[in-house]
Parts: sequence; C-alpha cells; structure tokens
Amino acid sequence: AGKYKLVMIRHGESEWNKSNQFCGWYDAGLSEKGMKEAQSASKALKQAGFKFDVAHTSVLSRAINTLDIILKEIGQTDIPICKTWRLNERHYGGLTGLNKAETAAKYGEKQVKIWRRSFATPPPPMEKDHPYYDAIVNDERYVNGPTKKEFPMFESLKLTIDRTLPYWNDTIVPQITEGKLILISAHGNSLRGIVKHLDNLSEDQIMALNLPTGIPFIYELDECLKPVVSMKFLGDEDTVRKAMDAVAAQGKAK
Ligand code: 3PG
Repeated sequence: AGKYKLVMIRHGESEWNKSNQFCGWYDAGLSEKGMKEAQSASKALKQAGFKFDVAHTSVLSRAINTLDIILKEIGQTDIPICKTWRLNERHYGGLTGLNKAETAAKYGEKQVKIWRRSFATPPPPMEKDHPYYDAIVNDERYVNGPTKKEFPMFESLKLTIDRTLPYWNDTIVPQITEGKLILISAHGNSLRGIVKHLDNLSEDQIMALNLPTGIPFIYELDECLKPVVSMKFLGDEDTVRKAMDAVAAQGKAK
C-alpha cells in the first residue's frame, strides 16, 4: 500500500455531455443522470469509509455541484473546499458549443480525436464573435484569475497541464505530504493532465485515456509521490470500461 492516498472524480454527466457538445469553460450544469452519478459515487465513497480533510474543485458548476452532492451524502460538508480555475476543464476554444458528432462528420473523426485527446494539438481559438466569448471572458468567477494575459482562448492538453501543475505542486502536494486525505472533483481533461503527470504517461498513452463521468478513482502514492496504485476505480470493471468507451464514442460521426 502507498504512504499517501488521494481520491479524484470527474463531475457527473453535464447537460452538454448529454447533448454531446464541446463544453470546456462553458458553465453547463449537471443533467439528472449526472446528479444520480454523483449520488452513487457518494455511496461508494461512504462504503469505502473515506474521511476527507480537504476538497479541491474547479470554478465550474458541474464539478462544484458534484462535490457538494458527495460531501452532503457522506456527511462531510464541514471540510474546506478550495475552488480554482486551474482545475477547470480544458478550454475548447472555437469548438465550444459545437456538437461532437456533427464536428466529426464535418472535419472527420480523426481530426476530432486529435482535438479531444492529443497532447500538444490545441483546438482552434475562441474568437471575439463566438456566441459564448463574452459570457466566459466577463464571468466574475474569474476575478481571482486567470489574469487578462493568462486568460485562455483555447487549450491543448499540454497547455491545460501547464496551468494545472502549479496548483498541484504548490497547493495539493504539500497537503498530501502533510498527510491530508484529499478529494478532487474536476473534469475529464484536467484530470487526464494530473494522471499523465502522476503516471508519467507518454503522449500515446494519454491519447488513449477517456475518463468516465461520476466514478471516483483512487491513487496510492509512495513517499516520493510515485503511484503504487494508479486510477483504481470505485466501480465494477465492466461498468467503468463501458463508460470509458462511451466517452470515446462521443467523437464518432453520426
Ligand atoms: C467537454 O469539455 O466537452 C467535456 O467535459 C470533455 O470533453 P471531451 O471528452 O470531448 O474531451
């Protein structure tokens, strides 16, 4: 067993996961199914008997609400919750709002897979005339950052990791080494970034990783924060595999 434990979860299904739209920094809410996923995640966490010391999440409702549902269900609403833009989903740029299957029909499934899962290739930028440009750039939830200069108009996974790692190293790691049990409620790609970093995955390996919504997974780390247990899902293998394949299939042309 590892010296340290850490639990992470991708938010439950969002309204835009349901409608299969690229979401990124758009603040889509949880769907009914997403709320149920958060509930069942809570049961699994309760069963496992985790007593969290602190929780970290993004500034987007779908991750915050997933966390709130969980903490309420497991009766740990008294722990500190740290919200940061650095755990936000990857910014999907000009793809934000587009239907993934339609985009695959228009640009090809290969191109969509590159946009969704590659390490270094970013989506096209969100231009000023984008329907969601003003809502996102002017949202007061970003009053504490990113700065105007840092504010992304698109992010590759690499760019996402570059803005998540400072938070991981400066805030989360010290809490882990102090022996705090941490719960992170975040997003498919910001978590892919953390997983890539923890397991030192290659670009090919991370290309193949799809994280399911609403199923918690555990890491056990040694004293050098190297994983001795990686991405152990609190759910049965078959359900997890099917959920991962469903996420991958969102990029298929209809
Ligand atoms: C989104 O931002 O659309 C989803 O949360 C993640 O999308 P992806 O699975 O297409 O990267």
